[in-house]
Order: sequence, then structure tokens, then C-alpha cells
Amino acid sequence: MMKYIVVLAVMLLAGRSDSAPSHPRGKQKSEHRSPPLDNHSTFQRISEIAKTAQEMDDDHETRLIQSEKHYRNETDLFVCCLHANILDFYLGNVLNTEEKFPDLATVKTDLDRISRDLTVKGCSIKHVNDHGHSNKFKESFHKMGKRAQTKAMGEIDILFDFLAKFC
Ligand SMILES: *[C@@H]1O[C@H](CO)[C@@H](O)[C@H](O)[C@H]1NC(C)=O
Ligand SMILES: *[C@@H]1O[C@H](CO)[C@@H](O)[C@H](O)[C@H]1NC(C)=O
Repeated sequence: MMKYIVVLAVMLLAGRSDSAPSHPRGKQKSEHRSPPLDNHSTFQRISEIAKTAQEMDDDHETRLIQSEKHYRNETDLFVCCLHANILDFYLGNVLNTEEKFPDLATVKTDLDRISRDLTVKGCSIKHVNDHGHSNKFKESFHKMGKRAQTKAMGEIDILFDFLAKFC
């Protein structure tokens, strides 16, 4: 059974060809890098939550977090801060879901830590608050109504991939 779940997860991840790579780039591991970004159990818990949410979601058209190709002309720091901003929104509006997800409390703690570390790193969350992509995320989220929370949970692995790659 476990094997089957893992294979399914890999297939689901592979199916979304335009999402960010599933493993941290890890090339610029500075002392400022937030530890949970390189923690394999964090990565696995987040993938597990995303998979659970995707199974509850039958809308395969909508996408809340834009794919990497939209950010080709931006600096790593900018893309990092933009997703730190979206992370902030997750912490305030998405992760307080009443739906049951595996290990949600642990993941919340890890994401809280990342958010704090990114602020210390100098990635001002407010800095990109009015950026078009961040606003677009929030607008689409609010427009979707109740289903938005499940959709956003299903994309939490994409958010984590962006943070691991660009922060
Ligand atoms: C990874 O994170 C978990 C909590 O999610 C923690 O218990 C564990 O010690 C961390 N591992 C490393 C190597 O930091
Ligand atoms: C990046 O810049 C090039 C050249 O200015 C432009 O043609 C392209 O549309 C831009 N790409 C994105 C994703 O903004």
C-alpha cells in the first residue's frame, strides 16, 4: 500500500511538468538559509499534504501559484520575497483549515520558521505586497470561494519548491 502511494505521488508530481523542480537547488547554502528548506522530512510532509488536497480537488483547470516561467526576468531574491509574501498569506489564510491533513501542525511550525528566517534574511514581506503576481494570487484565491483553500493546499508543494529554490 505504502509503495503504491509513493508511486502515485511521483506520478502526480511528474504530471505537472511546468512546476518547479522537486528538490532544493541547494547551491547557495549560506548561513542565512532557513533549515527547514533543506529538511527532507519537511519536504515529504508537504508533498503528502499536497497530494491529499489534490485528491479532494476535482478542478484541474485553475492554478493559483504561477509557474516558474513567469519569473524568468526576475532576480532570485525577488522571486524568493514574492513567495515569502504568498507564504505569509498561507500562514494567515490557508493553513488554518478545518480539513484534516497529515502532520499539518508540524508543517505549520516549519513554515512559520521559514517565514521568520526570511524576514531576518532581509526579505521584507511587505516589500512585494502590492506586486501584481502576489495580488493575482490573492484575487484568484478570494474569487474561488470555499474551494480555494483545498486548491491552495494542493499547491503547497509548489510554494515550498519556489522557496527552496530561490531563497
Ligand atoms: C527536520 O524537521 C523535523 C520537524 O519537521 C525535525 O524534527 C527534525 O529534527 C529536522 N531534521 C533536521 C535534520 O533538521
Ligand atoms: C523577459 O524579457 C524579455 C525581453 O525583454 C521579454 O521578451 C519577455 O517577454 C520577458 N519574459 C517574461 C516572462 O516577462
